[in-house]
Amino acid sequence: MTLFACKATLISSVSFEELSIRKDSYIIVRDGMIEKIADRIPEEYRDIPVHDYGSALLIPAFSDLHLHAPQYVQRGVGMDKLLFDWLNDYTFPQEAGFRDLAYARAIYLQLIRDLLKHGTFHAAFFTTIHYDACDLFFRMLGESGMYAYTGKINMDSNSPDYYVEETEKSIADTERFLFEHKDLYDGRVQSLIIPRFAPTCSEKLLKGLGELARKYDTGVHTHVVESKAEAAWSRELFPQYASDADIYEQTGLLQGKGPKIFAHVIFPTEDDERVIKKYSCISVHCPISTNNITAGVMAVKKMHESGYTIALGSDIGGGHRTGIYDVISSAVQSSKLRAFYLEDDSRLSLANAFYLATAAGGNVFAENIGKLEEGFRFNALVLDGMQDKGREMTPEERLERFCYCGDDRNIKARYLNGKQIDPEEVYERLKRL
Ligand code: GUN
Ligand code: FE
Repeated sequence: MTLFACKATLISSVSFEELSIRKDSYIIVRDGMIEKIADRIPEEYRDIPVHDYGSALLIPAFSDLHLHAPQYVQRGVGMDKLLFDWLNDYTFPQEAGFRDLAYARAIYLQLIRDLLKHGTFHAAFFTTIHYDACDLFFRMLGESGMYAYTGKINMDSNSPDYYVEETEKSIADTERFLFEHKDLYDGRVQSLIIPRFAPTCSEKLLKGLGELARKYDTGVHTHVVESKAEAAWSRELFPQYASDADIYEQTGLLQGKGPKIFAHVIFPTEDDERVIKKYSCISVHCPISTNNITAGVMAVKKMHESGYTIALGSDIGGGHRTGIYDVISSAVQSSKLRAFYLEDDSRLSLANAFYLATAAGGNVFAENIGKLEEGFRFNALVLDGMQDKGREMTPEERLERFCYCGDDRNIKARYLNGKQIDPEEVYERLKRL
């Protein structure tokens, strides 16, 4: 049994609109869970150890609901291209390298270490088509303590001949992956089915994967209406389907009970909207990436108000920043540009974007994650050093400063499953896997 308290200024989302800020409060943690939050140490906890962080902020750890693990080492490269050229010139050659397990290991080690450094403890990953590298990554995530959705990606069409699967093998490898990775790590790491996007998947492949979604009760992670060019190509390839989301519904991919994670959703049609709401799919806003390689800004505010479930993603390597706090500031910035050009009220507040990155993203995982509240897992970050000399800042201003100007050096302590972690130590441990 472990029992301790942390003292700090606590910031956590109450709702899309509202932040809760509790100055100089105590958070009491038993066996990895938040047991109590109080202004002073309650009598019955008088003798427990207290980690006193003074005026530092304590916030929930971040959730990144869409990133490409193998693309970690290509971030910030090829950023002047549009989606299809970026895929063909940089991304497919990069991912093809993961047939080499030693290469995969070296990159996945760095990625996991750096996500932990930047405070992302919960994430939904794309990988590559290679079974062995995907299996290694699954086990690394399990050993790291992170909460994750991962799996093996599928692509059998419109892909280069050096990085493409034969349809039957893609389905068979996926079935083997789902079967071999069931019920591991207490469900902290789970498999999803990951058809890359409609243009790189045949109808036969999608229907085969749809059967697996039903058979293994598995969710799905893919890209949906991520650019006008993508949506147009998808309509041309799948004329018998009404929209991107309709393809996934009709091929059976939304029948499992796991989460249905759709990256981007920038130009949803009425058909997309119907499917996304019917299956409570999660639409992932990745503003850094959609600025870099595609076109458009998700209509976050309007979609939230109309009942979409939305979370944030870095979309590494389309996105070039590792920390979700950078995605928070980018979400606010892009929403203001959208509001400026469309002359509407799509502007997001910092509180809105923080909610998407913590409470909304955390809600996609199997446990109570993403808030500092009683009954939630204590996955949290201590932030400090955002203040200049001579000017006082409110806690909310310090959080905003962190999201705009901060980096991993401002994260003074990291608690994962109620234990303080050191990303370098995790790196050394995972090396031995
Ligand atoms: N669509 C298909 N593949 C990709 C990818 O790797 N990244 C992004 N952002 N979009 C994609
Ligand atoms: Fe992506």
